[in-house]
Amino acid sequence: MTYSVGILGCGVMGQSFLSAVQKFRVLGTSEDKEKLPTKFYTTNHNEESVKNVKKVLEENIKKITEDEEVLKNFGFEDHECYTGKDNIKLIEKSDVVLFSIKPYQMEQVLNQIKEAGFDLKNKVFISLVAGWTTESMREILNNKEMIITRLMTNTPAKFGEGAVVVSHTGSEELLQKWKEKLNFMIEQLGVMVELPESKMDAATALVGSGPAFVLNFLEAMVDAGIKMGIPYKESYILALKTVEGTAKMGQLTNYTHPSVLKHQVCTPGGTTIAGLVEMDNRGVKSGVINGITEAARVASELGKKK
Ligand SMILES: NC(=O)c1ccc[n+]([C@@H]2O[C@H](COP(=O)([O-])OP(=O)(O)OC[C@H]3O[C@@H](n4cnc5c(N)ncnc54)[C@H](OP(=O)(O)O)[C@@H]3O)[C@@H](O)[C@H]2O)c1
Repeated sequence: MTYSVGILGCGVMGQSFLSAVQKFRVLGTSEDKEKLPTKFYTTNHNEESVKNVKKVLEENIKKITEDEEVLKNFGFEDHECYTGKDNIKLIEKSDVVLFSIKPYQMEQVLNQIKEAGFDLKNKVFISLVAGWTTESMREILNNKEMIITRLMTNTPAKFGEGAVVVSHTGSEELLQKWKEKLNFMIEQLGVMVELPESKMDAATALVGSGPAFVLNFLEAMVDAGIKMGIPYKESYILALKTVEGTAKMGQLTNYTHPSVLKHQVCTPGGTTIAGLVEMDNRGVKSGVINGITEAARVASELGKKK
C-alpha cells in the first residue's frame, strides 16, 4: 500500500520532518522504502514561505544525490510534490496529515477541515502541536475512530538525530493497519519512544525544548573556555565533543545512571568535585529541573488558550 503525506505548516519542524523522511526515501533499501510515503504535499501561510520550502526541498535532495532524475523528481519515484497554501487541497490529497503549525493556529485550521466535510475515516492525523490533546482535536472534528497521533520531537530530527515521543490513539482496527508504517516513518526522525498521551507536556519540555537547554549549557562551556584563553573555535570544538562523547558514553554503558558515571570522574580532592560543588552551590541542577518542569507547565497551558 503506497501512501501520501501532507505537512500542514511547513516551518522549522515540518521541514525537519520532510528532510529526515526525504533522505531515507532516497537512501533506504527498497524494502524500507515500501513503508515510506511516495508523495508529499506541504502548505504554508505566506507565498514567500511556499517559495522557500520549494528551495529547501531542492537543496535537501541535492545534498543527498546528484542523480538528475532524482533531482527532477525531488527524490520520489512516482513523484508528486505540491507546495502551496491550500490546506483543503492538502487534506484531500494526503492519506497522512502532519500538523506542524503553532498552537494558536490549530483551532481555526481544525474548524476549516470540519467545515469542508471530509470523510475522515481513511485519514491519519499526526500532531506536533504542543498542548493540543487528541481529545480536543476529536471534539472539533467530531470523530472518535480515526487515528490521531501525538508526536513530540526536536530540531535535531532534521538530521535524523531527534528524540521522539509518540502516542497513537484511534480504533484498534485502524491502528493495526497503520501503526507499523507510521512508526517506521517517525523513526526516521531519530530515537523513538512510545508513551501515554498524558506524558506529552513533559515530553514537550524535555524533548521539544531540550535542545535549547543543552545549547545554553554548551554556550556556557564555550564561554568558560574563552574566559580561560582558549580561542572560540577550539573551545567550541572541545565543548561540543565533550557533550557528544558524554552522551554516547551513557548509551554505550547501557544507560548507567549519570551519577555513577559522574563519580568516576571525581578524584578525591580533585578538580571535578571542586567544579561540581561550585555548580551545586549556584543551583545549576535544581535550575535545570525547575526550568524543564516550568516549560512543561507552559506546554499544558497552551492547549487551553484558544
Ligand atoms: N521548534 C521546535 O523546536 C519544536 C519542537 C517540538 C514541537 N514543536 C511544535 O511544532 C509546531 C510547529 O513549530 P515550528 O517551530 O515548526 O513553527 P514555525 O516554524 O513557525 O512553523 C509553522 C508553520 O506553519 C505555517 N502556517 C501558519 N498558519 C498556517 C495555516 N493556516 N495553514 C498552513 N500553514 C500555516 C507557517 O507558514 P508561514 O511560514 O508562511 O508563516 C509556518 O511555516 C508548534 O506547534 C510547536 O509547538 C516545535
